[in-house]
Amino acid sequence: MVTKRLLATAATLLLTAGGAAAGTSELTCKEAVGKKIFFDQRLSVNKNQACAACHAPEVGWTGPDQEINKHGAVYEGSVMGQFGNRKPPSSAYATTSPFFRLVNVSDAAFAGGNFWDGRATGAKLGNPAADQAQGPFLNPKEQALPDAACVVYRVCNSDYGMLFQQVWPGACDIDWPTTIDFESACSNPSQGPFSLDAMTRAKVDVAYNDVAYSIAAYEDSKEVNAFSSKYDAHLNGKADLSDKEKWGLRLFNGKGKCANCHISTVEQKCAGGNDCVSSRCPDPVDRDRISCGKGYPLFTDYTFDNLGVPKNPENPFYGQPEGGPNWIDPGLKGFLSTRMDFAMYADKNFGKHKVPTLRNVDKRPYPMFVKDYGHNGYFKSLKEIVHFYNTRDKFPTCNPGDPGEKMTCWPAPEVSDNVNKTELGNLGLSDMEEDAIVAFMKTLSDGYRQYNQDSQ
Ligand code: HEC
Ligand code: HEC
Repeated sequence: MVTKRLLATAATLLLTAGGAAAGTSELTCKEAVGKKIFFDQRLSVNKNQACAACHAPEVGWTGPDQEINKHGAVYEGSVMGQFGNRKPPSSAYATTSPFFRLVNVSDAAFAGGNFWDGRATGAKLGNPAADQAQGPFLNPKEQALPDAACVVYRVCNSDYGMLFQQVWPGACDIDWPTTIDFESACSNPSQGPFSLDAMTRAKVDVAYNDVAYSIAAYEDSKEVNAFSSKYDAHLNGKADLSDKEKWGLRLFNGKGKCANCHISTVEQKCAGGNDCVSSRCPDPVDRDRISCGKGYPLFTDYTFDNLGVPKNPENPFYGQPEGGPNWIDPGLKGFLSTRMDFAMYADKNFGKHKVPTLRNVDKRPYPMFVKDYGHNGYFKSLKEIVHFYNTRDKFPTCNPGDPGEKMTCWPAPEVSDNVNKTELGNLGLSDMEEDAIVAFMKTLSDGYRQYNQDSQ
């Protein structure tokens, strides 16, 4: 019975994505072209960096280099020496985020969007993940291409260019001006943006949107949003959690208060029932905490909070001219300040970051592989971050580098305004209770073997 339901869900996903692929593991054409783009290193100024450089499946769609994870947590861009300021969050389950919006005026509370600060709102392309996907290609700290025309040019002239045109008819019918040598101009980060005539620019813009929609379709595919963890199997009656995992789940939902923000149940449904045909819920909705998980829990409510995470002193952004040693990550405030309509709420959101999904939070290529956690990668293990939730306010403040740091004392928060003091800080968990919560989080990694074999 369960198997049938799973297959039916997968079939619905394929159909609603507009494709006719057979079998649950195959991608639709649109998803397949999105995948090609996601893994194409040529789509960076030096042809050396794909999206996957910072979002690799074997690491739960986040950074695959443990030397970086152990230290600054920020990944270098296509251009050597260029660093952004945050840790890559998971690019899986990003498509489940609702549109960015103000949910409560008196609390100045926001929800939704993509990025740690929600700034990919969904307002441009009707989908936060598609809005997001147009960022990295042109970000000088990431793929650093000088013009969107370079992305389109390289996609159209790739080995999957035909597939792209099949999915997006006419997208590559562009009269590339002979006055620009795209081969060399696109390999120079300081060349752009190019001056194109209005017709060509309009066509480039349309094709660039198609690139973004392709990526979002892939990110929304069953291959990326797999919902195939042990916990999912458990919810479907196909796997038993161990006693320790069950204990951890109870603590996660109860004493640890984790589920207040990282929602572990399927209470999140689209308004109007189970009509999640696309990745997003209809908007606006009549409730403030909603997102769309196709009937599975998403482990986030997409709101923003300041946990009081300390600085990561190794963040390379402190050494970048745009940052500097005194730089402070403003979180959501940074984005709100750029918006006339939201600037009045900026201060109340200083230091707040989006609640990340915990799906795949423990996914790693091998057990000793180091991942990092939080917007700046301050935490180097799940145990560490749980210990922080448990003891932030119980222990004294100490200087970074103190021998007791992370064990019996914590450095001051990066931003001391707006720190959430009601839901975390002194949870009274024992060491074994912390471990149980960690054990539970380990059940959230996709690709639980037992489950996949059974559901074939
Ligand atoms: C150099 C590393 C790097 C590259 C390359 C990169 N990203 Fe990211 N990605 C990040 C970082 C860092 C963030 C968070 C930035 C922020 O919040 O300000 C992020 C955020 C995201 C998010 C938001 C997730 C969420 O839940 O809000 C998605 C989705 C994503 N990236 C997808 C992509 C795609 C698609 C590409 C290729 C077009 C890409 N990334 C290329 C580092 C990278
Ligand atoms: C008040 C809301 C809230 C509560 C309660 C909460 N979290 Fe979080 N969680 C967040 C936010 C916000 C972040 C990102 C914070 C940042 O980086 O500044 C986060 C980050 C995390 C991360 C890092 C994920 C990543 O990809 O970097 C883990 C792991 C985590 N939380 C686990 C837990 C556990 C376990 C509990 C319960 C003990 C818990 N959270 C309770 C809001 C919450």
